[in-house]
Amino acid sequence: MNSRSVILFSALLLALSAHAETTVVKSLQGQYQTQGATTFSATAGEKLWNLEVAGKKGEMRTCTACHGKDITQNGQHASTKKVIKPMAASANPKRYTDEKKVSKWLVRNCKWTFGRDCTPQEKGDLLEYLITQ
Ligand code: HEC
Repeated sequence: MNSRSVILFSALLLALSAHAETTVVKSLQGQYQTQGATTFSATAGEKLWNLEVAGKKGEMRTCTACHGKDITQNGQHASTKKVIKPMAASANPKRYTDEKKVSKWLVRNCKWTFGRDCTPQEKGDLLEYLITQ
């Protein structure tokens, strides 16, 4: 490979890795749209992210209970107190790069927080918010 192709190839790799999270989120959002969702809104996602719902014992449950209000910073698990790395894509490039991981945690965390599954629209809105932070 001559030096020009090396530079081009490196630029291509960089572009691909920088957008891994966008690819995963777009793929999931596409699936949610086949399940009835329309266009996604970061504002709606942010509202859900900060929504407080009373749990069984009257305790307040919200996404920020574990991930924190400032998602460019570490969070802390509400029960185990373990540190959770930042959720903002800009602060943590490992986020939203594994489709299975994202789906799994959305199911689990919607149930924990809201006591039910999120709808395809809600999941897409939440991801739209998280990916643009
Ligand atoms: C009880 C604590 C807790 C609450 C509340 C919580 N999460 Fe999480 N979440 C976690 C843990 C633990 C992980 C996995 C560890 C990690 O990825 O750092 C995680 C991971 C995730 C991931 C995977 C991201 C990735 O690709 O790395 C998403 C998406 C997510 N949470 C969304 C949410 C949303 C949306 C809510 C609110 C509906 C929420 N979480 C509420 C604990 C929580």
